[in-house]
Amino acid sequence: MDIKDLVTSRRTIHQFKPGTLPDEAVVRAAMEQAVWAPNHHLTQPWRFYLLGERSKERICLLNAQLVNEKQGERAAEIKLRRWREVPGWLALTCLKSDDAVTMQENYASCCCTAQNLMLLLWDEGIGVKWTTGVVTRTGEFYRIIGADPGLEELVGLFWYGFPAEVPAAQRPPLDQILSQLP
Ligand SMILES: Cc1cc2nc3c(=O)[nH]c(=O)nc-3n(C[C@H](O)[C@H](O)[C@H](O)COP(=O)(O)O)c2cc1C
Repeated sequence: MDIKDLVTSRRTIHQFKPGTLPDEAVVRAAMEQAVWAPNHHLTQPWRFYLLGERSKERICLLNAQLVNEKQGERAAEIKLRRWREVPGWLALTCLKSDDAVTMQENYASCCCTAQNLMLLLWDEGIGVKWTTGVVTRTGEFYRIIGADPGLEELVGLFWYGFPAEVPAAQRPPLDQILSQLP
């Protein structure tokens, strides 16, 4: 796809075609290319976690437990069923730093990588949803993916698969967000 079409046509995908997992080689290639993102002092702050069936199931159950505590059993059951249908799961974390500026710059680099990843996958017909729900901020989530919360911060849990539907979206016109300086 032309870069302009790629950037503007990418959408957050909420509904995936059930039962079809994109080729892992394509996803791995996208991760390999996504890290050609700017990163100050070349800290290479990104770490990926590609989840298999067992870890996906553990996160689904953990999330259902959290939903159950807040919204009850019925809501948890619905959520569990829905989450189990999501085909592909990967997490991206960012290396922490004792230095606040480095920390922020590392996070910025990881967000560039995340966008690269989503665009590279979109170019392959694979849709992504970047999620940062409550479950991703729990210690248990870090344990399941095997990330050290002392060293890494979660940037997002990325769900991917072939889109069942592509939502419409809008952006404000440029003159609402641009200040033209003399
Ligand atoms: C840091 C970050 C966290 C997000 N977390 C969620 C989330 O938890 N749940 C969700 O439905 N969408 C999440 N999104 C997706 C945004 O809601 C989405 O990008 C926005 O609605 C614009 O839609 P578009 O990506 O199709 O342009 C997240 C996006 C970003 C950048």
